[in-house]
Amino acid sequence: MEMAEIARRIAELKREKDAVVLAHYYVPAETQALADYVGDSFYLARLAKTLESRTIVLCGVSFMAESVKLLNPGRTVLMPEPAADCPMAHMVQKADVDRVRERYDDLAVVAYVNTTAEIKRWADVCVTSSNAIKVVSELPQHNILFIPDMNLGRYVAEQVPQKNVILNRGYCPTHNRIAPAEVEALEAEHPEAEVLAHPECPQDVLWEADYIGSTKQIIEHIAASDKKEFIVLTVVGVAAEIERLTQGQGKTIHFPATRPVCPNMAMVTAQKLLECLERGTGQMELPEDPDRANAPLERMLELAA
Ligand code: 13P
Ligand code: SF4
Repeated sequence: MEMAEIARRIAELKREKDAVVLAHYYVPAETQALADYVGDSFYLARLAKTLESRTIVLCGVSFMAESVKLLNPGRTVLMPEPAADCPMAHMVQKADVDRVRERYDDLAVVAYVNTTAEIKRWADVCVTSSNAIKVVSELPQHNILFIPDMNLGRYVAEQVPQKNVILNRGYCPTHNRIAPAEVEALEAEHPEAEVLAHPECPQDVLWEADYIGSTKQIIEHIAASDKKEFIVLTVVGVAAEIERLTQGQGKTIHFPATRPVCPNMAMVTAQKLLECLERGTGQMELPEDPDRANAPLERMLELAA
């Protein structure tokens, strides 16, 4: 089906079904173009609570749809591709959390929002890459177990040195694969370029960065910058919004030669969005013990406000 026809059908179905479409910057540009709202993990989680529509369609990976469902238990939450899952969202064991809880009295377990509802139930508060520094620095506890992302955890530990941050061994396969050598090669080729990195990148890649932030922060930084050239160290999906916001400004962005793509986000195509709206498939069920899993999300919204 032609893209114009897909867009026409989607607009019709949204009206018929009282549905709103949210998309993360990492899904294909064609899907982002069909969404009512596009944003980073924090923006999407916070926004979902303010929407009136009966149905929320989340174009992203399952922890995002699950968070929206936890925050809006009364609404129908649909995922165009229910198999789209973030591997990092499973990279921590209960025993690792229990061991640290036994060792420290004055401890907060901080779960990156990229986690399953089960893991959120073990945590005291959630964070995203855009609010982790603020939330961790405002917690009353001195000891912080940061799960599951070791790269974001290490970055937060460096930025909040007054806390004792204990790390886990999880990582994002897509960001963790970005190598310092390819960044250095890009810098040699484009010496004037500003380097922007997502904190899920490894430490030696973050050392190369002039600016570190979430997807939304990276995009907004580029849109506001006086510079003309940028090296962007995150998933290539952010290019669509950067191009939209910087139209006519003569700005150029470069990605690592290996073109970081999140294979799970890439599965969320425009065709699947249409089928999901047509058939009402990919319903996210409320997970077990939803109040316990939602508590750390609500705490994040309070502390990051
Ligand atoms: P943000 O959208 O919060 O920057 O996170 C990136 C990411 O990897 C989401 O899975
Ligand atoms: Fe997970 Fe990485 Fe994909 Fe984000 S980019 S959804 S952290 S695998």
